[in-house]
Amino acid sequence: ISRERMRNFCIIAHIDHGKSTLADRFIQKAKVIDSRKFKDQFLDSMDIERERGITIKSQAITIPYQSRDGQIYELNLVDTPGHVDFSYEVSRAISACEGALLLIDASQGVEAQTFANMYMAVELDLEIIPVVNKIDLPSANIEMVKHQIDHDLGLDPDTAVLVSAKTGEGVDELLERLVELIPPPDGSEDEPLKALIFDSHYDPYRGVVVHLRLYDGIMKRGDEIKLMNNGAVYGIEEVGMFRGDLLPTESLRAGEVGYMIAGIKTISDITVGDTVTHPERPCSVARHGFKEVKPVVFSSIYPIDSDDYELLLSALDKLKLNDASLVYEKDSSAALGFGFRCGFLGLLHLEVIQERLEREFGLSVVFTSPSVRYRVTMKSGERFFLDNPLSFPDQVKIETIEEPYIHATIITPSDYLGPIMNLCLEKRGVQQSMTYLDEKRVEMVYEMPLAEVLYEFYDRLKSVSRGYASFDYELSDLKVTDLVRLDILVNGEIVDALSQLVFRENAAYRARIICKKLREEIPRQQFKIPIQGSVGSTIIARETISALRKDVTAKCYGGDISRKRKLLEKQKEGKKRMKMVGSVEVPQSAFLSVLKSE
Ligand code: GTP
Repeated sequence: ISRERMRNFCIIAHIDHGKSTLADRFIQKAKVIDSRKFKDQFLDSMDIERERGITIKSQAITIPYQSRDGQIYELNLVDTPGHVDFSYEVSRAISACEGALLLIDASQGVEAQTFANMYMAVELDLEIIPVVNKIDLPSANIEMVKHQIDHDLGLDPDTAVLVSAKTGEGVDELLERLVELIPPPDGSEDEPLKALIFDSHYDPYRGVVVHLRLYDGIMKRGDEIKLMNNGAVYGIEEVGMFRGDLLPTESLRAGEVGYMIAGIKTISDITVGDTVTHPERPCSVARHGFKEVKPVVFSSIYPIDSDDYELLLSALDKLKLNDASLVYEKDSSAALGFGFRCGFLGLLHLEVIQERLEREFGLSVVFTSPSVRYRVTMKSGERFFLDNPLSFPDQVKIETIEEPYIHATIITPSDYLGPIMNLCLEKRGVQQSMTYLDEKRVEMVYEMPLAEVLYEFYDRLKSVSRGYASFDYELSDLKVTDLVRLDILVNGEIVDALSQLVFRENAAYRARIICKKLREEIPRQQFKIPIQGSVGSTIIARETISALRKDVTAKCYGGDISRKRKLLEKQKEGKKRMKMVGSVEVPQSAFLSVLKSE
């Protein structure tokens, strides 16, 4: 197909406004996927995505479309995640596109990430088509949303297309508008090859699959290609398009989105944002890549079984390929042995990595309490960043500690202003501005410590606003804070993996919660186990697990044999997930529950 009839576009929206559902309709219309193979949320291929009903990874798919004038177009669609933790995925995905469908839920209207994602698209000069979705809902308020498109977003409300991704209404019209309004890609097949790596994944049978957007040139099987970043040269084994599965093609041409397999064994050779070219006829300048993402939340991962250390390393390498935002380095703890210190984009990102390690790689792992990264200035003048409680310096030698703040934007119906302001205050937020977007909706901007947002902020915001408030943030700067290290002692021994860095005033509260959680999670043992929280040498919280009195398996003796076997099986399974801390067996769930504080 000629470049004139290619369209590269993405769907962007606030979380849950219907991106994946709209993508489903496009895919079904094009009949590229066998109807027996088709399932809802087709592009959300990971189990976690399907269970949670959210998109985590961007996915690309190429669909043919015959427009009303009879022309066949090639549509490259990139589905993107909505949650703020994954906005990095969005930025990468949209840099492979010329246009964006900005989806807005007709019953919710414009929300915080509607703005954030639109700005990203505007910055990259994308053609934006506003789309009002869910018009089938009785609570749909199309006039309100059109007003917001005009007034809040500054887009022409007359260009908005009304659809129901659920029923399919308006989807044909949308496809027509899309080929009409979104420009074909620039570039030339005669120029030297210039292709941007915007993603990659690891296939256990094929190795590394690199996702590319071609700007100039052609690439074919058998070509030698060079990665501009490190100069590595590879021979292409296969190129092709995304059709749900990988569909091999003869070549990929300027303007197209597709994949290449090139026997790449060194996973670290591939960096998202890198440019691929031909070594004998290289392109002049590499395309500007992506900003390197900065993780904001840090936690250590340890294998439950220390023999799994190498497996964990190779699993992280493979995940990194599919998730450039993941960073890690070696770490070790007295309680948990060897592991990795990892950086994440947020707590949801952390949970996703944990689940992927368990599901895709069959690993049992423990994550330590997440922390943000602080800047420490010592009295000696030395300055460094600190995210690991284990490296907390001697308090008396510290001059100042600064913590990262965020610039948070909250959009809410004015009915919930009071409770939201209280919540922000409790989270040490300082209000910067408050603007009425219209009679009913207010936009508030707060400076807030990132560390406070990590714990339950999002859930609390949703609950105090009955789900109506939306929230987006970006990092702002560092501010001086009063930080201490909270230690947790089980049976008198500090469990280093449970230590955390906390704001002094929050220490007692957090300590109480953690001790209580641990008391619930650690099974009773033959002896009494004190659980304590301390700052320095001061104990600030305490719980006790009383000693075990009766043997739990006793009732099985002489009883039903299969039941007993089941119990033993269960115990064995349980043992795998236990860590010895001194003489106490601590289940993995205890470490995890500490992460989830409410
Ligand atoms: P994330 O990927 O998590 O950001 O969500 P998303 O934007 O992809 O939303 P998704 O497609 O998962 O849809 C969210 C919910 O809205 C699902 O329960 C859909 O069934 C529902 N939904 C999507 N489109 C429509 C629509 O047109 N009408 C109605 N009534 N419901 C819809």
